[in-house]
Amino acid sequence: MSEQKSYGLLKGKKGIVFGPLDESSIGWSIALAAHREGAELAISNIAIAQRVGKVNQLCEMLSAPFIQADASNYDELFKGFGELKEKFGKIDFIVHSVGMSQNIRKEKAYDELNYEWYQKTLDVSGLSLHKIITAALKQDILNDYASIVALTYIAAQRAYSGYTDMADAKALLESIARGYGQTLGRKGIRINTVSQSPTYTRAGSGIENFDLMYEHAHLLAPLGNATAEECGDYVVTLLSDLTRKVTMQNLYHDGGYSSMGSSLPILRIMHEALQNDALVAKSGLEDVLPPHLKGGKWKTKKEG
Ligand SMILES: NC(=O)c1ccc[n+]([C@@H]2O[C@H](COP(=O)([O-])OP(=O)(O)OC[C@H]3O[C@@H](n4cnc5c(N)ncnc54)[C@H](O)[C@@H]3O)[C@@H](O)[C@H]2O)c1
Repeated sequence: MSEQKSYGLLKGKKGIVFGPLDESSIGWSIALAAHREGAELAISNIAIAQRVGKVNQLCEMLSAPFIQADASNYDELFKGFGELKEKFGKIDFIVHSVGMSQNIRKEKAYDELNYEWYQKTLDVSGLSLHKIITAALKQDILNDYASIVALTYIAAQRAYSGYTDMADAKALLESIARGYGQTLGRKGIRINTVSQSPTYTRAGSGIENFDLMYEHAHLLAPLGNATAEECGDYVVTLLSDLTRKVTMQNLYHDGGYSSMGSSLPILRIMHEALQNDALVAKSGLEDVLPPHLKGGKWKTKKEG
């Protein structure tokens, strides 16, 4: 259980978290933090998560009903919300912490993407937010003034080489959050995305060169990378009544990384490394340069 003290922020509230798999999952930490703050929870995931993950253990710990649903399957979601409403009643929040890309698992480069997998990535990781909200509205399971939060990553806004089709799915997800905001606003319901630091989870660690991305963000962010537990603490504030006029926002939870350009220590380390020809050759720098910079023409005047 989380070490953080409870502020009772979610006392009297009920909600569902989509996507906890094991202790490393961001959704797992959000569920623990919401429970600590007094919420009654339901947990949802695909069937396989019960076999390969520890989702049953989490449900037992939190006395939470499990709703089995593929988040890309509207009919399963509609049925799941129907069952939930019957045994649990109406809910005050939904957390979307779902993501999957077969192209990332297979380390496909952006110009080699398998299009069937690409569609699946968009469907599971982006469009699922739309389907979840629509199914919840059609089942009339959301209380007025409910809150919806979905997890995203900065690759939706900037280019990150290893994030390939998941970056496009996250752009779709963030756009859906803005697109649905007005309709949801008619019931006082708010919706936001939280853009989290690189975090060691099953989905996260599958990204090519994840260690390097993690290290870079950790060194650049003035407060360092945010952990999954810290993300849980942040998300509960967005589920609580203290943030009732925050909607249609993409909120960075990343130790300040997204506002940084560069930092002198990192520039110095990079500069030192660039003096080492063997290291430069090993880095593959020449392979990613445009023609006018190849052959060492990227060197500064001072060095050249
Ligand atoms: N790990 C990171 O570095 C990082 C950073 C920013 C945002 N995020 C986002 O956080 C969210 C949670 O990911 P995580 O890093 O905790 O990894 P995770 O692997 O623990 O969680 C991903 C979850 O998605 C579920 N899932 C996959 N396909 C599904 C489907 N068809 N239907 C329903 N659920 C399905 C998995 O079973 C798993 O529980 C994702 O949206 C991810 O993109 C992760």
